[in-house]
Amino acid sequence: MEILITGGKGQLARAFQKFFAQKGLSYQAFSHREFDISDLKAVLSAVRTLRPRVIINCAAYNLVDKAEEDFQEAFRVNTLGPYNLRLAASEVGAFLIHFSTDYLHWLRLNLTGRPSQRGWSRLESSTQNSK
Ligand SMILES: NC(=O)c1ccc[n+]([C@@H]2O[C@H](COP(=O)([O-])OP(=O)(O)OC[C@H]3O[C@@H](n4cnc5c(N)ncnc54)[C@H](OP(=O)(O)O)[C@@H]3O)[C@@H](O)[C@H]2O)c1
Repeated sequence: MEILITGGKGQLARAFQKFFAQKGLSYQAFSHREFDISDLKAVLSAVRTLRPRVIINCAAYNLVDKAEEDFQEAFRVNTLGPYNLRLAASEVGAFLIHFSTDYLHWLRLNLTGRPSQRGWSRLESSTQNSK
């Protein structure tokens, strides 16, 4: 397989699928239910089997308000997920594409004056994956 897309039902993933279909490129998109990027064992197993040349990570936890109470889930998806994909990609020599957010969340303070929890989870993944 050439291109593996995660978060397949999301906005960005659907735009990629439309584009690749138009260009006649070989890709496979997986929904959250089919491919959970926060599950390292599942990620390694799928990537070892599919052996894509490129992985496009369109999976993300984007629920800004909910992330304040559910930081663990935001962290699992936005921080551990890209890290898991990076491990799997390097194992099979795939190129990993990961998107940053279009907002500077860590600068957006919540009512207590702290950066938002989703902001922390996004900052972590941006830092990790820029190494
Ligand atoms: N859309 C834009 O204009 C835009 C602009 C700049 C940057 N970005 C970045 O692009 C990425 C995707 O954004 P988007 O707008 O396409 O978001 P989206 O529409 O919310 O899609 C995110 C997808 O990720 C899935 N997902 C959540 N947790 C997952 C997990 N653990 N494993 C696998 N899939 C999971 C969601 O599935 P469920 O809903 O079933 O949980 C959803 O289908 C984000 O990093 C975002 O910051 C997007």
